[in-house]
Amino acid sequence: MRTMRSDYMHWAKFKPPVRYPLTGSEVPHFRMDSLPVTIADLDLDGASHPRYPPLREAIAGRYGVPVDQVVAADGTSMANFLAMAALISPGDEVLIELPTYELLLGAASFLGAEIKRFERKPEDAFRLDPATVEEAMSDRTRLIVITNLHNPSGALASEDELRSIGQLGARILVDEVYLDSAVPAPSSAVHLGPEFVCTNSLTKVYGLSGLRCGWIVAEPELTERMWRLNDLFGVNQAHPAERLACIAFERIDEVIGGNPDLLARNRHRWNAFAESRDDLDCIPANHGITAFPRWRGGDTHRLDALLRERYDTSVVPGRWFEMPDHFRVGFGVPLDDFEEALGRLGAALDDLT
Ligand SMILES: Cc1ncc(COP(=O)(O)O)c(C=O)c1O
Repeated sequence: MRTMRSDYMHWAKFKPPVRYPLTGSEVPHFRMDSLPVTIADLDLDGASHPRYPPLREAIAGRYGVPVDQVVAADGTSMANFLAMAALISPGDEVLIELPTYELLLGAASFLGAEIKRFERKPEDAFRLDPATVEEAMSDRTRLIVITNLHNPSGALASEDELRSIGQLGARILVDEVYLDSAVPAPSSAVHLGPEFVCTNSLTKVYGLSGLRCGWIVAEPELTERMWRLNDLFGVNQAHPAERLACIAFERIDEVIGGNPDLLARNRHRWNAFAESRDDLDCIPANHGITAFPRWRGGDTHRLDALLRERYDTSVVPGRWFEMPDHFRVGFGVPLDDFEEALGRLGAALDDLT
């Protein structure tokens, strides 16, 4: 049956708020009123601007690709959907990593794909293993879908691994929404060949999820298909948001600010915490915004419930990633809050032991 909704997204949006959430996967929000922006900068004359060139140029400039390789979309979410809609016909076989971001499965299912999976194994540090992908493929595989960095684990795929997967004969959709949080940020897989279709947005490491500025970078024949498809869904982007996104790109270093440093410090604290716990198995977090430890106590739904009830804290239970004895933590939290949240997580783990 085709998926008609995302239960994970519904949970993520409407779960009761807590004081110390470790559920997020974005740095603290960036306030655009800290930039010298006036209302006149937003071109509020009511006109919309098809394929708004300044925004496409700003995105293309960051990738060093021609403008006709860029499609703008409402967040990485719509970017992923447009990319899949342009690449998949009902009944096509699509190979998706496991675990993964639930919305990728949902979009492929909604489009009528026949979904197959390949594992990224915790005992192999959630590595993207080209041999495992190849084994899971058939001659009907149209598309391989991966996240890099990997959501939930934060694992970084190497260029060699990606290149090998590029040689398997299918298109590859790489959701790179976390890639810019790796240090140093690796270059996009789109540079590895025309079979790669990459998506990203000004969210995770930029703290601008409210702008909904996302994009796809792919070969021009595909991007044209995606623009034309987008006419069915939203026609154009909201123009004030496009203007704000251009302003953010002009001052991107200011927008990123101390975020890499915050993430590095929180990863360091997380690694020390995870190392100190006998009840957790976790690969050291070297990159990114998330980690996905295994809890030896079983279903982490229980852990999240206790954290909420007694500690005003939360984690993402692993069942949202099809691995119930894992849980996801996010590092995009102010330093003091992160320290406090870890203390509370430790106390809850102790209670459950
Ligand atoms: C892998 C992945 N892709 C896409 C998104 C959504 O990104 P955006 O807010 O840019 O739509 C998320 C958000 O958690 C994500 O984890």
